[in-house]
Amino acid sequence: LTTSAGFQHSELMEMQRILTAPHINSTRLWERHRAIAQIGATGRGGVNRQALTPEDAEARRLVLSWSEARNYSTTIDAIGNLFIRRPGTHPELAPVMTGSHLDTQPTGGNFDGVFGVLAGLEVFESLDDAGFVTKRPIELVIWMNEEGSRFTPATMGSAVCSGAIPLSNALETTDSNGTTVRDALSKHLTQLPKLEKRNLGTKGFAFVEAHIEQGPILEATGCQIGVVTGIQGLCIYEVEVVGFEAHAGTTPLSNRRDALVAAVDLIGKLQDEFQDPADVLRFTVGKFEVAPGSPNTVPGRVNFTIDLRHPNAEVLGRVGDAVMRICAGEIKRCSVTARPMLQSKPVEFHPQIIDIVRSAAVRRHLRHMNLVSGATHDSKFMSAQTPTAMIFVPCEKGISHNEAENVRKEDLFAGTQVLCDALVALLDTEI
Ligand code: GLV
Ligand code: MN
Ligand code: MN
Repeated sequence: LTTSAGFQHSELMEMQRILTAPHINSTRLWERHRAIAQIGATGRGGVNRQALTPEDAEARRLVLSWSEARNYSTTIDAIGNLFIRRPGTHPELAPVMTGSHLDTQPTGGNFDGVFGVLAGLEVFESLDDAGFVTKRPIELVIWMNEEGSRFTPATMGSAVCSGAIPLSNALETTDSNGTTVRDALSKHLTQLPKLEKRNLGTKGFAFVEAHIEQGPILEATGCQIGVVTGIQGLCIYEVEVVGFEAHAGTTPLSNRRDALVAAVDLIGKLQDEFQDPADVLRFTVGKFEVAPGSPNTVPGRVNFTIDLRHPNAEVLGRVGDAVMRICAGEIKRCSVTARPMLQSKPVEFHPQIIDIVRSAAVRRHLRHMNLVSGATHDSKFMSAQTPTAMIFVPCEKGISHNEAENVRKEDLFAGTQVLCDALVALLDTEI
């Protein structure tokens, strides 16, 4: 069938679908990013809003106030994950889910995590504004401690929610001042409005997380949308080196058990072991603490973290074994122990959810490509129980975990519209 204007009937149907679909409000989305960026602002363009700090609570309160203005209901689980729910006509059906995080690195940017939360809320409000009534409820999750910079490991909230880390282990984790997650969380609860509790564990009909790419590929290829097909594997270790504190002026070098000297030697050995000509393996010592931290005392203890990533589970397993072998026993007369904090295999997302994301990008005529995420995300743990995929948008020069992180307004808009179309499609789809 062809109309007098030369359109195929199927093309007209497609246009009608797009015209009647909810349209996200780019200005509202942008203004909200600006508002959240004020909370924990460092004055250098970035933010410091680490998990369970007063700044984290303030950002959560602001999002909750927007949600409350729309009468969405909110619940909180035992590890502090927040779930904002827009009801459907069939409350017994598993919800379609989206979400990300509001906590940041100590020198974090304004988009990592925030985008996925605000994009999700924007979808809810756009559904309202377009008068959309859905059969399934929709839930927006704000995960607790995605970044893992204050309390190790990263993605703690989703790891506990999915059963990958026992709740009690997570609650006993301490920050570098010795504050436990348990104490920080109970203080955090006093800084939030009173919320109904929900059981740990969640199973959605589908989960789609929008996030910035945090790498350079989309920008370099001129793509506005990354269709994320999976996430590389990640293992995090805490290493402790114990020597003996001694006087810096009186103790000969030959008599010392200097934990710092041993730790530096150890990191050199690890670096040699992890030479990778293909440059795919990622090895990072990002946190390094020396005790007692006094100029004139020989260090008696060093604690550091190892962040190890690879897309191949076998390779990751092998290098993980090497960490445990090298970080054990005695080195330079100091004792060394390593403790795995997170062992998370590479994941492949659900083919049908990936297809739904890709179709949404195609319909909106957005340049897109498939990507495997180098960064980790809560979607990894969600995908163990709920069909999951992610949407990436480009960030300037691929810079992230840096205060200079920047994203174009039009890319936030495109990513959120794709999220919206994908979620709407899921509300009608049987998987
Ligand atoms: C998340 O921030 C990560 O460590 O990849
Ligand atoms: Mn993130
Ligand atoms: Mn991050």
